Amino acid sequence: MSHPVYKLAIIGFGTVGEGVYQTLLKKSEKIAAILGRPITIPFVLVKDQLRMRNVSSITKITHSFSDILDESNLDVVVEATPDASTAYPYVTKLLEKSISVISANKELIAKHGEELHKLAKENDCQLLYEAAVAGGIPLLNTLRHTLKTNSIQKLEGILNGTSNFILTKMREEASSFEVALAEAQENGYAEAIPDKDVDGWDAYYKTCILSQWIFGCSPVWNSEKPVGIREVDAIDISLAENLKARIKHVASLQKVENCVRASIQPTLVFEGHPLYSVEDVNNGIYIEGSIVGPVTLQGPGAGKYPTSSAVVEDVVNFLSERNEPSLPKGIQFLKDGFEDSDSSFQEKPNLFFLTAPNGLSNHLTTMGFDVIKSVVQLGKKYGALVTSGSTKLERIKTLCNELEIQVYPVLLGKNDSVEKYYFKEKAI
Ligand code: HSE
Repeated sequence: MSHPVYKLAIIGFGTVGEGVYQTLLKKSEKIAAILGRPITIPFVLVKDQLRMRNVSSITKITHSFSDILDESNLDVVVEATPDASTAYPYVTKLLEKSISVISANKELIAKHGEELHKLAKENDCQLLYEAAVAGGIPLLNTLRHTLKTNSIQKLEGILNGTSNFILTKMREEASSFEVALAEAQENGYAEAIPDKDVDGWDAYYKTCILSQWIFGCSPVWNSEKPVGIREVDAIDISLAENLKARIKHVASLQKVENCVRASIQPTLVFEGHPLYSVEDVNNGIYIEGSIVGPVTLQGPGAGKYPTSSAVVEDVVNFLSERNEPSLPKGIQFLKDGFEDSDSSFQEKPNLFFLTAPNGLSNHLTTMGFDVIKSVVQLGKKYGALVTSGSTKLERIKTLCNELEIQVYPVLLGKNDSVEKYYFKEKAI
């Protein structure tokens, strides 16, 4: 006999957990109309039970996981904890008990997704995590449902809302990195430990999941770790503007022969590229589908309600039993850590935007750069468009760091050539 209500528990009551709770309450009538019965929330699991929480009288705030595990007829659990090590024991125990889990935890999925999917399958339940990648943008469901016949050769994405917010504030309002980060934290965009955002790890986990979903394998990385936005100098942002370009934190995935190459780093994006206008806390994902052609998805990539939207839609999809198996066939999950270099990768000379102290301008060619154009000078720095093979660049990276040279890869618009952006050399 079916039950008169659906029962859902929430683990974690930070920005996301609380947002999901409030959204389920606020949208309760609509959800009941879609599902044919309401959702109740008997338990919310928290670390600090003494803190006041704004929940209704039918919800018990508990710090005992066994309350959730022992609850009879629990239909689904929302997992909204901040990292993999907190979430992993909860999620494994729930799946072992055949209780489906909706997660917003990209680190958990990137590190343990393969094992957890296997566990869900063995126990005839589901693991869904639309909210884990690109916040409120319906990306994974789009890939699963409406782009599965297309082959995708490459992806370029802004995947961390906090970093994009900071870079936008630094450019538009001349905010310092620290002030912009504090504002991102106040707005509920940043992770509990914001280093994960600004050092690139948050985008790294999301890129891992996307590689697995799109290409069915973990990528080969172009560096030992992701490059975040800490080292992006305010002057570099201004130099880029003089080129009619913006510095964005970009994740790239590209199929090259039989492997997938990945990178995450601050990148110079010209105005013809779809990611140029992705501003503020938004995320943007540019993909080229073999049938549909170029597609850009854009929307809020972080924040209480955009993330809650993705979680709640997963909940409703799951309970309305309209989901297909939670993972497309043939997907492999992450092997821990970064791999580097792949002999089968054919190196092509790439275009870079380089900013350096003025005195170094005559030495670029001896360092191995092919200078296309010196762009602009601003105070003690100048910017130049250069080409250099990426392997060569990897070799001189330490030297670049020592000489305070920043190197940004460049994204052009689809039909653009770099000549379109040539400037007459000028000093400001
Ligand atoms: N801290 C993350 C971001 C939250 O800024 O993108 C959404 O995953």
